[in-house]
Parts: sequence; C-alpha cells; structure tokens
Amino acid sequence: MLQPDDSPGVSVSLSTTLAQLPEGAASEAVLAIDGDDESLILTRVAGRVQAFRNVCPHAGRRLDWAPGAFLIDQGRLVCAAHGASFDMASGLCVAGPCRGASLTPVALPEIEATGTGS
Ligand code: FES
Repeated sequence: MLQPDDSPGVSVSLSTTLAQLPEGAASEAVLAIDGDDESLILTRVAGRVQAFRNVCPHAGRRLDWAPGAFLIDQGRLVCAAHGASFDMASGLCVAGPCRGASLTPVALPEIEATGTGS
C-alpha cells in the first residue's frame, strides 16, 4: 500500500475534503507520495473512507471525467474512459475490461481516515 508523505499543509486540505465527503460518494485529493503529487480517489462506504490512486488498472487512465468528477452507478465507481466498474470499498473491478483487477489502495493516517480530525 502506498504511503503519503508527511506534510502538514496536505493534511489540512485532506481533512477538509474528508469532512465534506458524503456517504456513497467519491472525491479527489492530491497528495505528495514519494515526492510526487498523486491524484487520489477518496470514497466513503459505511462511514469508512478509502483512498486509491486515480489510475485505472485497464489502460492507466484517470477514472474521473473531469478533475474530481467521478461517475457513480448503483453504488459502484465507474471509469469514465471505458466503463469499468469498481467496488467503492475494496477497489476491486467487478465489471468491464479489467474485471478482477483492483485500484491501488493508499494508506491514510488514522485520524484523517475517520474524517474526525480537527
Ligand atoms: S482506462 Fe478505465 S476502463 Fe479503460
């Protein structure tokens, strides 16, 4: 699992994004990982936030159709490029051209993952 760099500025931004993320929704956050800015997909399912790299396992494209705008269909995250559908909690592709592959999870600090950081 990828680990974000320890950056106070990024943490404040991420905490704000997490606090505003509704149940069953997806949002984007950009975090520094190994010194490079990475676009991440944040999802909230059953109150728990997950983070994945915004890179589709099918052809390596971003999943959003515009920066931070994700397609959700019947509780699944849908890649805007070719329609692969992903379980929002696990990142597993359940339908489409990369069925059985998974998004790459990214570890979030515990206080941020709960969305209760102050
Ligand atoms: S790049 Fe996502 S389904 Fe093809």
